[in-house]
Amino acid sequence: MTVKILGTGSYVPDKVVTNEDLAQIVDTSDEWISSRTGIKERRISEGEGTSQLAIKAAEAALLQSGVRAEEIDIIILGTSTPDKCFPNGACEVQGAIGAVNAVAYDISAACSGFIYALNTVYAFFESGIYKKALVIGCDVLSKLVDWEDRGTCVLFGDGAGAAVVEAEEGDGFHMLMGSDGKKSAAMECISRTCGNFITGKRPEIGYMTMDGQEIFKFAVKKVPECVEQLLQESSVDKEDVQAFILHQANYRIVESIAKRMKLPIERFPMNIEKYGNTSGGTIPILLDELNREGKFQKGDRIVLAGFGAGLTWGAALLQW
Ligand code: UT7
Repeated sequence: MTVKILGTGSYVPDKVVTNEDLAQIVDTSDEWISSRTGIKERRISEGEGTSQLAIKAAEAALLQSGVRAEEIDIIILGTSTPDKCFPNGACEVQGAIGAVNAVAYDISAACSGFIYALNTVYAFFESGIYKKALVIGCDVLSKLVDWEDRGTCVLFGDGAGAAVVEAEEGDGFHMLMGSDGKKSAAMECISRTCGNFITGKRPEIGYMTMDGQEIFKFAVKKVPECVEQLLQESSVDKEDVQAFILHQANYRIVESIAKRMKLPIERFPMNIEKYGNTSGGTIPILLDELNREGKFQKGDRIVLAGFGAGLTWGAALLQW
């Protein structure tokens, strides 16, 4: 069984925050942010929550796919910034779009969220349990960022991407995922989870913390390993892959991965300069942009790969 993409969609908030804008808030500069990360600007929510962004991306994907919401069997939202502890964001999407026959839930895997969600859907397709799915990656990290910490606040943005996918006969889809909980402290955010009945401690609201260099080293080592293993297991030559759509965290990470894989950087499209790191949103937003620009031909092989807090990582090979 394979995964056929029937439609894609994405949505980012209207508010553009440039590097110059951030230099008014923290001790940073456009020169530092651009040269270290490739980011020029990002979109920041002015009140729209994760579910609202996800709903707009989902509606765009459904419209392009021609699939009616009632036909969707399962909705999985990859997010680590749900608006509420419960209900989950996927249920809010389900309610808004009228996907009355779907089961809906979130997957929390930080920047690997979309890949984890897509690969989980594939497992349901393989088993024959479900046939049509809506997969979403969405985060509103501006909710969790300490806007006084220049080490993190310049990196992130808000956004959502979605794909409507269908099970189809064939073997064009392959996947790989991994996690390393021993390195969980490299990037974390405590939030609402540490209230205690016995001690009377009230829940704390925490900001995101990150060891940037640890994540950088992990990404440039693990992602090429993961992608090369995936291609080997799928018996697909890397030269036959038209596009490697990687998580957009830092253009230097993408460049370094291309170099390690001995592939031209042109095969690694990027849009980080416009949106920064939208966590679970980066891969499906880029996929949607390329799709809408008509960059994919039927039969093209595309690799999607993500990495992030957890630590988590994963990749998917699909055929357009
Ligand atoms: O989805 C996964 C999410 N996480 C990531 O993607 C993070 C991956 N890591 C990275 O992208 C990079 O490590 C960063 C962009 C976060 C940092 O780049 P770096 O080249 O590793 O810089 P650094 O942490 O070594 O910092 C270099 C200097 C330091 O100053 P000193 O100690 O050399 O005086 C920092 O204090 O840059 C300073 N610095 C800044 N300066 C201006 C850190 N942040 C900023 C800033 N503006 N925003």
